[in-house]
Amino acid sequence: MRTLITNGTIVGADGSTAADVLIDGEKIALIGRNLAATVTADETLDATGKYVIPGGIDVHTHMELPFGGTFAKDTFESGTRAAAFGGTTSIVDFAVQARGASLRQGLDAWHAKAEGNAVADYGFHMIMSDVNDATLAEMDGLVAEGVPDFKLFTAYPGVFYSDDGAIFRAMQQTAKNGGLIMMHAENGMAIDVVAADLVGEGKTDPYYHGVARYPIFEGEATNRVIRLAEAAGVPVYIVHLSARDAMNAVREARDRGVGVFAETCPQYLFLSLEDLGHGFEGAKFVCSPPLRPADHQEELWTGLIKDDLQLVSTDHCPFDFEGQKELGQGDFRMIPNGLPGVEDRVDLLHDGGVVAGRISPERWVEIVSTAPAKLFGMFPRKGTIAVGSDADVVIYDPKATRTISAKTHHMDVDYSCYEGRQVRGQSDIVLSRGSVIVRDGQFTGRKGAGKFLKRSIADYARIS
Ligand code: URP
Ligand code: ZN
Ligand code: ZN
Repeated sequence: MRTLITNGTIVGADGSTAADVLIDGEKIALIGRNLAATVTADETLDATGKYVIPGGIDVHTHMELPFGGTFAKDTFESGTRAAAFGGTTSIVDFAVQARGASLRQGLDAWHAKAEGNAVADYGFHMIMSDVNDATLAEMDGLVAEGVPDFKLFTAYPGVFYSDDGAIFRAMQQTAKNGGLIMMHAENGMAIDVVAADLVGEGKTDPYYHGVARYPIFEGEATNRVIRLAEAAGVPVYIVHLSARDAMNAVREARDRGVGVFAETCPQYLFLSLEDLGHGFEGAKFVCSPPLRPADHQEELWTGLIKDDLQLVSTDHCPFDFEGQKELGQGDFRMIPNGLPGVEDRVDLLHDGGVVAGRISPERWVEIVSTAPAKLFGMFPRKGTIAVGSDADVVIYDPKATRTISAKTHHMDVDYSCYEGRQVRGQSDIVLSRGSVIVRDGQFTGRKGAGKFLKRSIADYARIS
């Protein structure tokens, strides 16, 4: 199958150009002007007035994550399908090592969830719940299998929490095997003290989830894990960075030449602590780190503009309000943590970033596709419109407007955090490895067409 995309503007992290794109099978075969005059194709897609961009890559999702006595609702089928509607053609999800089990058991379980179900390509990071001689030894094998990143937590005592010694040991192991430690950096021990005090005072509403998790607890933990990484001589990646305090820790470390990388998420750019108000409705916005006072947002945008934050992922972890978030009625500590978002990331960043004049279209593509591909060992196979790359291509209409709503979204969750918000920019046609999987608002892909992405170790020293 050969597909020719004509008359569009290819937008890449390094620049934009008016050119046609020929796709042959699963790969981009040729890029040039007026290709229709010299090549034949089975189908021609007219991209007049549209951007032609590499498919979005969301490197932080949680399909079917067990959390707080329930499971994140999207499966690999519904989640990758929703992602595709929003212009995201690859995800990297977090496999979970259950306490007492091996990394292998966790990884096999996630392969079983995804294989035959995902409609677009997927990779895995590994959540390490236990750091011991056996799991440390297993890390090397996972790196070789294309799962080279390991998430550890200074939050959630008794669940995913690791102490400093465990984190440092995991970092020492990545110094040997080339993997990357990803850190959920909040001081979970201190948060639990404040949270218990608040509940003791009768402050049980979702709003107090946001109150208990002080920004300084995120700043402290972020600085601590960066220092541990410096001591171990390895790079470190901070996930879902939300607060000015953490942003400062990352910037200061990068200024002194430390290999620290970080992501933020749309919820920290567009939502705020106020959304956690309004009684129990605020449960819809409970995630960790929590939504922050609105004055943190502009500092995160500055981080994105100056590249102290390299990318935006979603931390997509959807729980229905009815029956799932409701588990925390009467005690905010029992609300499952997580928000839906995999479908809206590309458009929110286009609208709030490019249309709002904060970033260029090129930086937008870098943030949602190219940087994730580079940092997570997928470049140049993914994250760029280039000859030889996978034909994960989005024909994007920068002028279209849509209203985000749970009534029309494709994520398997009963609410939207952005209900009623109008955004400018929308994916028209989405191709995954050369096949059209979304066209004019209809899904045209196939369950099981997504393949496991065996990822390599990124060359962090060469990524600024
Ligand atoms: O609230 C969140 N972020 N839920 C998902 C688990 C995690 O910490 O990433
Ligand atoms: Zn986390
Ligand atoms: Zn997460």
